Amino acid sequence: MNRLLDDNPFKLGIFASNVSHGATATTAEGTLEMTWPNTLEIALAADRAGFEALVPVARWKGFGGPTNFNGSAFETYTWAAGLAAATSHISLFSTSHVLTTHPIVAAKQSATIDHISHGRFALNVVCGWFQDEFDMFGLSLRDHDALYAYATEWLHIVRRLWSEDREWDFDGRFFHMSGGFSQPKPIQQPVPVMNAGASGVGARFAAQHADMAFTGIAAHEEDTGQARIAELRRLAREEFGRELQVWTSCGIVCRPTEREAEEFARYYIVEKGDWEAVASITRGRARYAPRPPQPSEPLRSPGWGSYLIVGTPEQVTDRMLRLSTLGLDGAVLSWVNYAEELAYWNTEVLPLLEQAGLREPFAGGVPVPI
Ligand SMILES: Cc1cc2nc3c(=O)[nH]c(=O)nc-3n(C[C@H](O)[C@H](O)[C@H](O)COP(=O)(O)O)c2cc1C
Repeated sequence: MNRLLDDNPFKLGIFASNVSHGATATTAEGTLEMTWPNTLEIALAADRAGFEALVPVARWKGFGGPTNFNGSAFETYTWAAGLAAATSHISLFSTSHVLTTHPIVAAKQSATIDHISHGRFALNVVCGWFQDEFDMFGLSLRDHDALYAYATEWLHIVRRLWSEDREWDFDGRFFHMSGGFSQPKPIQQPVPVMNAGASGVGARFAAQHADMAFTGIAAHEEDTGQARIAELRRLAREEFGRELQVWTSCGIVCRPTEREAEEFARYYIVEKGDWEAVASITRGRARYAPRPPQPSEPLRSPGWGSYLIVGTPEQVTDRMLRLSTLGLDGAVLSWVNYAEELAYWNTEVLPLLEQAGLREPFAGGVPVPI
């Protein structure tokens, strides 16, 4: 069974462990350097600890600045294939830009990884937003809503290739196919699909077509986010007859004392944040604020910023409980130093999450024979 479907009330994934600096644009020491041993070490530690998923970032070019944030990025299908062979339990996502991968290639690559992993694959379908990287392909992202229409046809074709045995023709707005066919089928029927659309059109796409939606939680939404999450789930259920998992993404700074955690957060964000890279992200995404937080403001992590949790293991557990009561099914996590901080998480935070009833102790189980 794909671990995304396990019974844990609050599921956990690791985010961005396939790209340099992970999810955090900072020049602080210990950030993620993109080598195979580094990404493998994180995957194996997460697999052994019972994390549900590894979610990579699809990225073709970095964002400049002193870090050239995410400038070194493993391609996500081949990354997932390698990790599928090395791990035993965890679900492996590929994140696929719909414009850069033809649906026939996407369907076949996905089926291949599903076989390598014995049914642990999942697909994160993204439209893309960073024009600089699409310039390399000679592709334009200008028509945002048309991109989601393209993604709808793309995913329709992928799902037919995953499930239909006979050849079929397709004549759509973007794709014209004759004799569509793919074998072998994925082991999982169906393969779980995720989408992280944030706009009205994007969220609607997720509700209509995905099994998991990603939604960002802003600090001020700790009290109001509940209604938005419930609405997304209601849309999926009532308009499209689908049950939707809703996840978010969290940056974690966890230390034995609150003071140590806060000092480190301030250090990597205010002193060492790569705001030049963040400004480059801003040019692609207008809503991103291109400056370090001011003393009176809550800290915002530079990068795939997400919901920042800073504190002791007990405080982090309380914030996770809060996310769960907002109605979230899970979160993907990132740290400045993945290897060290994940080890600390596994020994100090996971047991508290279990005591809080958010997760069951991970029994492990017998690795599947190859
Ligand atoms: C957790 C998460 C992961 C994402 N991963 C990627 C990615 O790997 N590549 C990418 O181009 N966009 C990624 N995105 C961006 C979304 O796909 C989406 O484009 C963005 O949230 C804007 O929403 P919109 O497309 O509805 O305007 C991610 C977003 C989130 C929240």
